[in-house]
Amino acid sequence: MTFQSSQLFQRDLLRWYADQARDLPWRERDDQVVDPYRVWLSEIMLQQTMVATVKRYYEVFTEKWPTVFDLASAKEDDVLAAWSGLGYYSRARNLYRCARYVVEHYNGVFPDDESSLKKLPGIGDYTAAAIRAIAFNQPAVVVDGNIERITSRVLKFNGVLPKAKKELKKQASFLFEGLSDSHGDFPQALMDLGATICSSTSPRCLLCPVQAHCAAYHTDDPELYPCKAPKKKKPVKYATAFFIQSDDGSFYMRKRGDEGMLAGLYEIPTSEWKKNILNQNDVKDNSFFNLIKKEYGKGQITHSFTHFDFVVDVLSGDVECQTILPDGEWIMYNKIKNYGVPTVMKKIIDEGRRCIKKA
Ligand code: ADE
Repeated sequence: MTFQSSQLFQRDLLRWYADQARDLPWRERDDQVVDPYRVWLSEIMLQQTMVATVKRYYEVFTEKWPTVFDLASAKEDDVLAAWSGLGYYSRARNLYRCARYVVEHYNGVFPDDESSLKKLPGIGDYTAAAIRAIAFNQPAVVVDGNIERITSRVLKFNGVLPKAKKELKKQASFLFEGLSDSHGDFPQALMDLGATICSSTSPRCLLCPVQAHCAAYHTDDPELYPCKAPKKKKPVKYATAFFIQSDDGSFYMRKRGDEGMLAGLYEIPTSEWKKNILNQNDVKDNSFFNLIKKEYGKGQITHSFTHFDFVVDVLSGDVECQTILPDGEWIMYNKIKNYGVPTVMKKIIDEGRRCIKKA
């Protein structure tokens, strides 16, 4: 371990942050006090999603639901619709449950202690620490992917991820050691450093405010930290989707069940999702295939989920009458924004329409 002084590291980083902090909508501005509801909302959105994407969704959510009371009294389907496209939809369902819990059990005031925060839906170690530090200026070791990367470089941590992840998280506490104030600014300064300078593939070490404290800077290839085991190839799954349009131009969607992947969201009906390319009989035996009166040909989309890549053949066709499908809804294209529709289904809808227009 070569890290000599966390205090000097903190001083240099915080000086840089005072001048270079990104202007992000959930951050405290001169005339505002930090609002725990907004910090919590932004942190849930920022789990797994890039800042640039989150900004747009954050603006929509805070406009529609400016307080935790507003969000708690929304309809779950409206929250899922507003979340549509952000991915990892269990975050949206937990967000809604958490808002209701905070209103019901804490009269709308977010708790500030670790154990109460971690009992709330969707809040784990990282988010509890981030809320305590950023919303309440409490000392907390906040460790996200950026902070892991910076830690591994500053300390020249030789453990190999993902196996050494727990140990790396522990090592991150060295950066926070002895921090006497700025408990909210310090982790956010690390995040900004990770996003703008200490990036994963091409760190800009010459511009780095904490270069002097960084062990990896003195190696030829700081970007080799953190050390990572080679990635396993993702498995592929296959399905056929049935994009069924009615004579008024609406198409059929149904709501998925309350459990499992994409729970509670709207989908275009599909065959089973299988590990092997589908046999044509699987498609022909499907009841949705048999509803199609006029077929417009086949398109294809691909989509990457966290644990598998998805290849979907899209069969589009017409039915004569809408009422034969009572368990879903006929939806017009321009009304899609009112429904919780995941990106994979948006791709299928656009592909189905493209095939119909081309025919
Ligand atoms: N990523 C997660 N939380 C963040 C924050 N508060 N600021 C910038 N990036 C983040």
